[in-house]
Amino acid sequence: MIREYEGKDGIMLIDGIAATEIAEEFGTPVYVTEEKRIRENYRRIHGAFSKYMDTRVNYACKANTNLSVLHILEQEGSCIDAVSLGEVLSCIKAGFSPDRILYTGVNVSNEELRGLVDVGCMINVDSESELERLAKISTDVRVSFRITPGVASGHGAKVMTGGKGSKFGIPIKRTIPVYTRARDLGFDIRGIHAHTGSGGEGIDQFTDVTEVLSGLANDIRDKVGIDLEFIDIGGGVGVPYRLQEEETDVEELASLVTEIIQDETEVKTVVIEPGRYIVADSTVLLTRCVDVKDAETKRYIGVDAGFNTLVRPAFYDSYHTVAMANKFNRACSDKYDVVGPICESGDYLAHDRVMPEPEEGDLVAIFTAGAYGFSMSSEYNSRPRCAEVLVSDGKACLIRRAEDTEDLWRNQIIPEGLRQ
Ligand SMILES: Cc1ncc(COP(=O)(O)O)c(C=O)c1O
Repeated sequence: MIREYEGKDGIMLIDGIAATEIAEEFGTPVYVTEEKRIRENYRRIHGAFSKYMDTRVNYACKANTNLSVLHILEQEGSCIDAVSLGEVLSCIKAGFSPDRILYTGVNVSNEELRGLVDVGCMINVDSESELERLAKISTDVRVSFRITPGVASGHGAKVMTGGKGSKFGIPIKRTIPVYTRARDLGFDIRGIHAHTGSGGEGIDQFTDVTEVLSGLANDIRDKVGIDLEFIDIGGGVGVPYRLQEEETDVEELASLVTEIIQDETEVKTVVIEPGRYIVADSTVLLTRCVDVKDAETKRYIGVDAGFNTLVRPAFYDSYHTVAMANKFNRACSDKYDVVGPICESGDYLAHDRVMPEPEEGDLVAIFTAGAYGFSMSSEYNSRPRCAEVLVSDGKACLIRRAEDTEDLWRNQIIPEGLRQ
């Protein structure tokens, strides 16, 4: 089941505050995040693993890099999975020390490697090319290696990363030569990592990848003479997006994964990298109905958020549950598509949803929008990015101003000859 929201007098409540009030005060579209839910999600997954063995939760911050979200997770004691120098620096700005950050990039430039070495975070090396280039910059670096495990998972082909032939990671058969080379170069080798993909169903992919990594950790100990500190099984814990979808049983996940590591290896620490699991259901996107159209074969609810604001439906065909926040739990009249202002027919947020009779001015809530929502938004069609609001202890506060048209032009330079 996706999480439920309460309603009062037909209005959806977000941690006790009327969604309509938030939209009125901060404008739309707006991402509204509940602090409490982020903390609960973090504690649930950390608690599930840490009762069995030493656990490091590396929040995959690509899901949501808002500095306030990062501050909350810093306070919780989370660590970080970062995929760019920008993410690393954002986390440091939010209070994470470099030793709490593991950088896992793909096709990493020398410039980025230099930046990471300067910061001093651990680097999860993705290729033999990266290892050799890093060695020329510095070997005084804590490293682990991302292996392509031959196990793929995910909510769609675009986010499956662990299958054979993937652009991510070091092919499994190169594991021993790579660890040997890193040892000979003098790197401080700490762990082994794999990520099968993002947002898949079930838990088999995690037990499969743990088996693969456990076998490799033993091989590395026997053939390279290195006792690894951690096994990092990556992220990708799925969350429900539809009303009836089941939640991932993280208790079972933790019990099975840690049992494999403890039974089969001498590795003491398990690392997991959830992004979506921690932030997805902390957030709803509120968007205003601006236009209602009966197009003979379809009925449309035209809203002010498009794929510039939430790209997941258009890009991945992802499903987000939607509701009318100002006609909450009211009887539905018909099926509608919820569509945005972007000048492309692929711009939609939801297809064929039963909704109450829409009117201009209604407020539509898009659920489970906290992961890969704002962080994948754009200014396409020259539409400034929207605001983000945090709800804590029954109070809503702005955590990111909406951009304005000046922001669209901020970094543009018009050559002298074009200025009249
Ligand atoms: C290396 C790595 N770790 C963790 C994640 C987080 O995935 P999710 O948000 O589905 O947990 C990703 C997502 O793409 C990833 O690439």
